[in-house]
Amino acid sequence: MAIISSTELFKKAYDGKYAIGAFNVNNMEIIQGIVDAAKQENSPLILQVSKGAREYAKPAYLMKLVEAAIIDSGLDIVLHLDHGESFDICKLCVDDGFSSVMFDGSSLPFEENIATTKQVVDYAHSKGVVVEGELGTLAGIEDNVNISESNAHLTDPDQAAEFVDRTGVDSLAIAIGTSHGAYKFKGEPSLDFERLEKITKLLPGFAIVLHGASSVPLEHVAICNQFGGDLPGASGVPEQMLRQAAGMGVLKINIDTDIRIVATGAVRKYLVENPQDFDPRKYLAAARDQITSLVAHKMRNVLNSSGKL
Ligand code: G3H
Ligand code: 13P
Ligand code: ZN
Repeated sequence: MAIISSTELFKKAYDGKYAIGAFNVNNMEIIQGIVDAAKQENSPLILQVSKGAREYAKPAYLMKLVEAAIIDSGLDIVLHLDHGESFDICKLCVDDGFSSVMFDGSSLPFEENIATTKQVVDYAHSKGVVVEGELGTLAGIEDNVNISESNAHLTDPDQAAEFVDRTGVDSLAIAIGTSHGAYKFKGEPSLDFERLEKITKLLPGFAIVLHGASSVPLEHVAICNQFGGDLPGASGVPEQMLRQAAGMGVLKINIDTDIRIVATGAVRKYLVENPQDFDPRKYLAAARDQITSLVAHKMRNVLNSSGKL
């Protein structure tokens, strides 16, 4: 069992019309919660690490925790850099043993995005590591961007095809209306499925990635709020829309916020209900259990990746 590439997983997912969950990890309990769910569900799995996660937990700890998870679970796992902001951080992660890196040049002009993405691809491929690029920008109310403004940043299908051709990336994150965080839609949620269809038609068999794909489960938002939190107006991508995307060529679906919400709700609830307890193992175990249930639910009912190992 090992850290593996996503190449074969994506081929199987494309043929089987399902998606693979890419879950952000920051500490031991999050890794254990997610990996236990993958084991339980017999599902392929991508664990991803952001710059912030590397700063919080330190790269060596995260690498050793992922290695420990592979030993403990007996699963092969893809280890991916999420939102790499420069060639240098991508190179560091390639050299550290990641099997997949993202270069996020989505805020750069098209030609600059292509140039640096291609530089990352050339280096990563020479070491057998795959690369995710991004074209188009995710927006949301957290960025104070309204819908018509954000439409201007959705991924252009022809540019997407040109980007893939000129960079040689292995997967591409696109913008079709999702956004990061817990406040995604001011009104009715909507994704641009027509745009997605145009992109997948131009890039048949190619791995399309959806960021900002948390559903922000209202029952867990309610638990946060019942036990002292204050998250009014939280909104996510409806799960049925994600299921639809997963059957249309979106092969990697990124989820972080949902993990944060269920973990925070569990810790708040545990501490309020057990005011005399001061054992971190108790409240962290409560968070870990909720993460396992959430991820198992995603694999079974949203990604359709359960039983696909
Ligand atoms: O898309 C970003 C992920 O949710 C990671 O967030 O940069 O706070 O670790 P972070
Ligand atoms: P969410 O904030 O919707 O969980 O998105 C996570 C993500 O895209 C990580 O790259
Ligand atoms: Zn993201």
